[in-house]
Amino acid sequence: MAMTRRIKSVEESIRDTDEPEHRLKKNLSGLDLTVFGVGVIIGTGIFVLTGVVARDQAGPAAAISFVIAGVVCGLAALCYAEFASTVPVAGSAYTFSYATFGEFIAWIIGWDLVLELALGAATVAVGWSGYLQQLLDDVGISLPTSIAGEEARFNIPAILIVLAMTAVLVLGIKLSSRVTAVIVAIKVAIVLLIVVVGVFYLTADNYSPFVPPAQPAGEGEGGWHSPLIELLGFSQGTYGWGGVVAGASIVFFAFIGFDIVATAAEETRDPKRDLPRGILGSLVLCTLLYVAVSLVVVGMQNYTELSATAPLAGAFSSVGLTAFSTIISIGALAGLTSVVMILMLGQSRVLFAMSRDRLLPPGLAKVHPRYGTPYRITIATGLVVAVLAGLVPLDTLAEMVNIGTLFAFLLVSVGVLVLRRTRPDLPRAFRVPLVPALPIVSALACFWLMLNLPADTWLRFVVWMAIGLGVYWLYSWQHSRLATRDVEARTPEPAHPEG
Ligand code: ALA
Repeated sequence: MAMTRRIKSVEESIRDTDEPEHRLKKNLSGLDLTVFGVGVIIGTGIFVLTGVVARDQAGPAAAISFVIAGVVCGLAALCYAEFASTVPVAGSAYTFSYATFGEFIAWIIGWDLVLELALGAATVAVGWSGYLQQLLDDVGISLPTSIAGEEARFNIPAILIVLAMTAVLVLGIKLSSRVTAVIVAIKVAIVLLIVVVGVFYLTADNYSPFVPPAQPAGEGEGGWHSPLIELLGFSQGTYGWGGVVAGASIVFFAFIGFDIVATAAEETRDPKRDLPRGILGSLVLCTLLYVAVSLVVVGMQNYTELSATAPLAGAFSSVGLTAFSTIISIGALAGLTSVVMILMLGQSRVLFAMSRDRLLPPGLAKVHPRYGTPYRITIATGLVVAVLAGLVPLDTLAEMVNIGTLFAFLLVSVGVLVLRRTRPDLPRAFRVPLVPALPIVSALACFWLMLNLPADTWLRFVVWMAIGLGVYWLYSWQHSRLATRDVEARTPEPAHPEG
């Protein structure tokens, strides 16, 4: 069936934000946004993935993996900044796509963002439970592994942290940004402490060879869990420059979140000025910290000996600074708390925008009369994330977070080009430099990292998106606000326009 393309104009998107029932409070400043950005960016990526990637893929060159992932995100961030400053409406990539490609792609993106946000929050909540277990272990309390930690079958701490953060989000975004500010201060202080203290314990030998020579894939490796690009015939095994790039597609997780600053557009006082500052500022700060931490960690302990679950604490223990392990665990717990909260914030705002457009039941988009937050959708999001975090084994699913996010970045990059062509007249407080080259390079770079993710991740991604198409055709297509407008405008013509 050919469909009429439903595009929601930028003006329409902005107008919808002014309906009293669906209006969010405009409370956030540029600094709030940067704090939000850092609050959601620094998390599992630096506290866990640094070790895994250095040990298994990139060696001491893990810092280069971080730089590659940071550059890819930086390119996408410029595109997000232009979009967010042009369409300052809740919903991030979803809203941008609605204004650019039309409803169908917008739905695809909204559905895709669940991978980044809800699944991401659940993944980080499980990591939080792991660090709690470790901290309690340090002080002599051990929780059974069946109810806490990364392997738990019924993960009680993960469920509790998700529910607690849901309550904070319902009570109001200003409160949430205060909670975030305290947490961000703690985790940035601990990350800086790691760098400043660690620098005195570096061993030059640990840096050589900086990029370990490539090794062919060993027995039992390969198959469906190897990078798609390898199955396509570009096999490089582990280490070497191939390993550095594959590492970049994994540590990409560490940068996820800067785009959520854009999802708070509608709640920002001066989005045109504050959004680009918030997005780019938090990204640059985090990249610098990541590169510093990864260089220090591989200098303290040989990459082959790094721990896969707690590499930072492990590196400090390896040079005799065991007390640091406890401090680092506290930093990680604080850090992951804000990541869980802000990922859920982003998820609730995307679903909020989708319900307001009636692609999901509109009752979900009701804003609380006193707190000014979309409480129904926030609670629904919290319950789903709690179930995922509590019951589902998430280790391989975490890679789906990356593929989902990269796909959204890819579409946003292309979207900038499309909107420049279709709506050159719109005022853009922030403009991407070097158009069309920069957005094209950004889209290609995202696709390149996607190709470096495992083939089974691709398969799951395709299945998830197919389910999304089913939901669209069964529900959203008929109920969409634009469909209803079509009907009103075209009565007595049929309700589902064909064209
Ligand atoms: N960037 C976030 C983290 O590393 C998702 O935990």
